[in-house]
Amino acid sequence: TPVEVDLVIAHAAEVLTCRPPSGRGVRGADLGRPERIADGALAIDGGRIVAVGPSAEVLARHTGREVLDASGRLVTPGFVDTHTHLVHDGFRHEEWGRKVLGTPGGTLASGIGHTARTTGAAGFERLRDGALSRLDTMLAHGTTTAEAKSGYGLTAAAERRLLQVVAALDHPVDVVGTFLGAHVPPPGAPRDAHVDDVIAQLGEVRHLAEFCDVTCDPVGFTPDECLKIARAADEHGYGLRVHADQTGHGEGAETAVEAGAASADHLEHVTDRAIGMFADSDTVATLLPGVSYHLMDMVPGPGGDGWSDPRRPRLAERYRRLVDSGALVALATDYNPGSSPNLSMQTVLQLAARLYRLGYGEVWQMSTINAAVSLGRDADIGSLEAGKRADVVIWNVPSHEHVVNRFGANLVASVIKDGAVRAP
Ligand code: NIG
Ligand code: FE
Repeated sequence: TPVEVDLVIAHAAEVLTCRPPSGRGVRGADLGRPERIADGALAIDGGRIVAVGPSAEVLARHTGREVLDASGRLVTPGFVDTHTHLVHDGFRHEEWGRKVLGTPGGTLASGIGHTARTTGAAGFERLRDGALSRLDTMLAHGTTTAEAKSGYGLTAAAERRLLQVVAALDHPVDVVGTFLGAHVPPPGAPRDAHVDDVIAQLGEVRHLAEFCDVTCDPVGFTPDECLKIARAADEHGYGLRVHADQTGHGEGAETAVEAGAASADHLEHVTDRAIGMFADSDTVATLLPGVSYHLMDMVPGPGGDGWSDPRRPRLAERYRRLVDSGALVALATDYNPGSSPNLSMQTVLQLAARLYRLGYGEVWQMSTINAAVSLGRDADIGSLEAGKRADVVIWNVPSHEHVVNRFGANLVASVIKDGAVRAP
């Protein structure tokens, strides 16, 4: 006799499982071949998936106290967004508006300084409510787990306050906290002193953050400075994330792999040497197409504002080599008020396909199972498999290609988090 479960989702036109063929995450040619089940079904109980497969098989063994008919619809894992600067106040639209028209704007460092000032002027509740409303938007667009960094504090006390905001976020989206004390060197403070200061804070904020992030980039810190922080973070039990080689080659990717980082993000200036290192490692290479788009990296402007680097239009070639070499590659929003004011992973998949020429299956698996590996949670989330959390998105389109091929509207029908419908 069939087992009764909390929820059955039946007769989906396509269930895209993103289940890895073997081992952790999906690499190389497998990225382009995600598992898809036609007329698929899911059985969910106690917030977990208990069965995934063809409807005939799942329905023969399970009856749902609740049944959702997904006829004509795509069903996928929820997106895992591994890189966000969720907590901030104020936006930088004025500076960006000048940049669009070719007027030299500020630098990335001055922009971060600007956001640190507007964020510092905002109270705790305002910061928390802003972050919560952004999580609502992320959930509505299909994200069920999101990383959230501090980084707009620039001083010890201010960083601690931002991490307290992250820790206070009570929301259906699972939030993973990251301490980004070494974002950019604060103006006026000696760099050594800042690095020592970050290291001194590690113990104090450990209960508020699972990861420690460092900017290993010409705009941030040197490989030696980053390794010093990374070693101390490791001793405190943090996982490591790295903002690597965004504004130029700073040996960020090499440093991240060497330090055993969970993830190296940005990689606009990744070298061939680093690409080879990723292929032999478990460090996830995380690409941020929202940044390429918003900073107009692919559209060299007349202004020469220091952000548009003529080498960047080669990103598609570089990232193709990264994928083909067998690196673990993920995608994320890098949501922030300067370089990527976008909360939607749908948009990220759509941009990655267009700007980097990545395939349908590739962008999906990079945004689900490989993203889960980057957060160390792939045993629990990132794919539709029995035993994992029931973080599931039902779509208003019949297959995963449609979500990438279309753009500009939210295509989500409903979002299920831990087995319960939480959006719309
Ligand atoms: O794009 N290292 C810094 N880069 C940040 C910039 C955030 C911002 O512009 O405020 C990033 O991740
Ligand atoms: Fe970032």
